[in-house]
Amino acid sequence: MKALVLSGGAGTRLRPITHTSAKQLVPVANKAVLFYGLESIAAAGITEVGVIVGDTADEIREAVGDGASFGLDVTYLPQARPLGLAHAVLIARDYLGDDDFVMYLGDNFIVGGITGLVDAFRHTRPDAQILLTRVPDPRAFGVAELNGCGQVVGLEEKPDHPKSDLALVGVYLFTPVIHEAVRAISPSRRGELEITHAIQHLIDTGADVRSTLVKGYWKDTGNVVDMLEVNRTVLESVERRIDGDVDGRSETIGRVVVEEGARVVNSRVVGPVVIGAGTEVRDSYVGPFTSIAENCRITDSELEFSIVLRDSSIHGVGRIENSLIGRHVEVTPAPVVPSAHRLVLGDHSKVQIHT
Ligand code: DAU
Repeated sequence: MKALVLSGGAGTRLRPITHTSAKQLVPVANKAVLFYGLESIAAAGITEVGVIVGDTADEIREAVGDGASFGLDVTYLPQARPLGLAHAVLIARDYLGDDDFVMYLGDNFIVGGITGLVDAFRHTRPDAQILLTRVPDPRAFGVAELNGCGQVVGLEEKPDHPKSDLALVGVYLFTPVIHEAVRAISPSRRGELEITHAIQHLIDTGADVRSTLVKGYWKDTGNVVDMLEVNRTVLESVERRIDGDVDGRSETIGRVVVEEGARVVNSRVVGPVVIGAGTEVRDSYVGPFTSIAENCRITDSELEFSIVLRDSSIHGVGRIENSLIGRHVEVTPAPVVPSAHRLVLGDHSKVQIHT
């Protein structure tokens, strides 16, 4: 069995964090979403992985390399334009050969991995297996309609009037019959070859398409509240590990990860918290459910329930909560007089000021 991981796309749909970079590399607890997917694939006993790449190919290649660090053998499959998920299967035809495969969308996050699902598929081997999850607003997803016996009878891509709240999760298991289906369909309203339509084609031609309901699913929608929430979920299961320096005047409580090369000086850190390599926390408090990425400087500040991406600094600004701070950001106090906020904010930034 192989895996096909989709890390293409233009990387422009999400804001503000993925303005300039691949959405599959958005970090959760200091690790790219894509890496959790690759780790789940390796854990399920799959080693051969084709990675679809588009505009952000260089960034993805730099992050994933040849896959050896995940125990995988990665082959990159360039897609000239993001013409759809089924198009990705089309261009991967030679790579996939006649093997069964799991198709994994690189911006999807499944808490608990996919080992059980892959094992069950290997055992029962229907023509296709889809995963579904209940979502509050299904209009942004593929949506499944089930009959009374729980069989999938219809699928629609981003319908205006969804027939259920069951969204298609971005992990699909296929036998080679899918190759015929992706050749049989035409581009959708949005001009893409939809995998949803290819699976509908399988259903229409009498193929055995099964579904499993999953919990613990997250897709990066660029929604900060969601992102802080998934960060919290993942941090809840980190193991305490202090590989960096914590000086005698500091206190680290509970599940705290201080990566090698990170320093905590005269500070109090209450887990779960991860502090990335090369980051310094000085004269500060870092509270639960906070991820601080690599090479950041936090001084004379308080930070809780927040994500700080790499190379950013926060100096002497009091308390920050519920915040998502991008890369190379500087947060500093304004001069006392005049009493004014001074802002340099990128496009689509959101700031809440305490007045
Ligand atoms: O996340 C689940 C949803 O994914 C499903 O519910 C939908 O049925 C399915 O169509 C898909 O919807 P999205 O519109 O959200 O997919 P998106 O364009 O975000 O692409 C998903 C991933 O695949 C993302 O990592 C980019 C990559 N991709 C996308 C396209 C269109 C490619 O590699 N090539 C492509 O041509």
